[in-house]
Amino acid sequence: MTRIFSGIQPTGRKHLGNYIGAITQYVAGQDRGEGIYCIVDLHATSVPYDPAGLREAVYDTAATLLAAGLDPDRCVFFRQGDVREEPELCWLLCSVTAFGDLNRMHQFKEKAGSQRDLVSASLFLYPVLQAADVLAYHANEVPVGEDQRQHVELMRDIAQRFNSRFGEILVVPEGRYPEVGGRIMDLQFPDRKMSTTGGSSQGIVYVLDDPGVVSRKIRSAVTDSGAEVMRAPDKPGVSNLIEILAAVRGSSPEEIEREFDSAGYGAFKQAVADAVVAYLAPVRERYQELRADETQLERILVEGGDKAHAIASATVADVREAMGVGPVRAHR
Ligand code: TYM
Repeated sequence: MTRIFSGIQPTGRKHLGNYIGAITQYVAGQDRGEGIYCIVDLHATSVPYDPAGLREAVYDTAATLLAAGLDPDRCVFFRQGDVREEPELCWLLCSVTAFGDLNRMHQFKEKAGSQRDLVSASLFLYPVLQAADVLAYHANEVPVGEDQRQHVELMRDIAQRFNSRFGEILVVPEGRYPEVGGRIMDLQFPDRKMSTTGGSSQGIVYVLDDPGVVSRKIRSAVTDSGAEVMRAPDKPGVSNLIEILAAVRGSSPEEIEREFDSAGYGAFKQAVADAVVAYLAPVRERYQELRADETQLERILVEGGDKAHAIASATVADVREAMGVGPVRAHR
């Protein structure tokens, strides 16, 4: 059975890009294989953060994913910090990770550039911990948005280098990128990806925004001066809205172009706004109920952590043994 692994940062406010590019794929993965999904609180400590806020953000993110359709009975859903083998595996994998490769990571360069005080070593090692996340579970597939391509390529290199140095232990995973909506752009600056760190407040649709706010943001999305609803390199705003509508409806961009051929931008944007509002409304409603019960959220995460731990600890024991680290297994 295909084993699917993905991780998401506990930034609390998940946006439409996360939802279309990743979260819907996690939910669908539950029907295709064995899904293992993780809220990466350890990764969140690589940039300045508030400890109490991190706990809250983990619950916000957990409730959002459950509201979107993750079912703890049909997948393993856990918090990264509950599985101590992950940071341990990160360290072990550092020995087969090229410093130069980490230095070339786009996300490291972007995030390092925006730190005012401290560029932490954990920000530099972030992609190795991400590799450890996936490799600890022998995952075959990693559903992510386009922005994670370089990180997925790196984890493949790490797994290959480990296997050729220490023996065939790790599974070399494949990235899985959505055909439509793998890179949702900011509505106000459609040449930049939708992102909580680099984006504009009006250009980001949050999953939990009020319906009125969602509608207003989409209706005021930047479009070019033309009138045709079609994708083109010089029409990034309209192209982005076409992708969004296609992803939300589960249709193709071509179908959207045909349908709105002579509609004009106003009617088109209204249709996108209505579709996104209808798409997110049920998630937002379920979220309120789930988020209110922190005891239940904590229970779900801890139980998921136990299941994750059982898998990761077996992998790490094999890795330690192959690397000659710690006591011989028979003596433990
Ligand atoms: P994060 O939390 O930034 O994003 C979560 C997921 O959302 C996708 N995404 C987007 N997709 C389409 N359009 C966008 N504008 C957009 N913005 C974000 C991301 O590609 C991602 O799939 N490093 C990861 C977290 C992680 C991870 C892992 C992922 C940690 N360990 C192991 C996979 C496997 C991250 O920062 O995601």
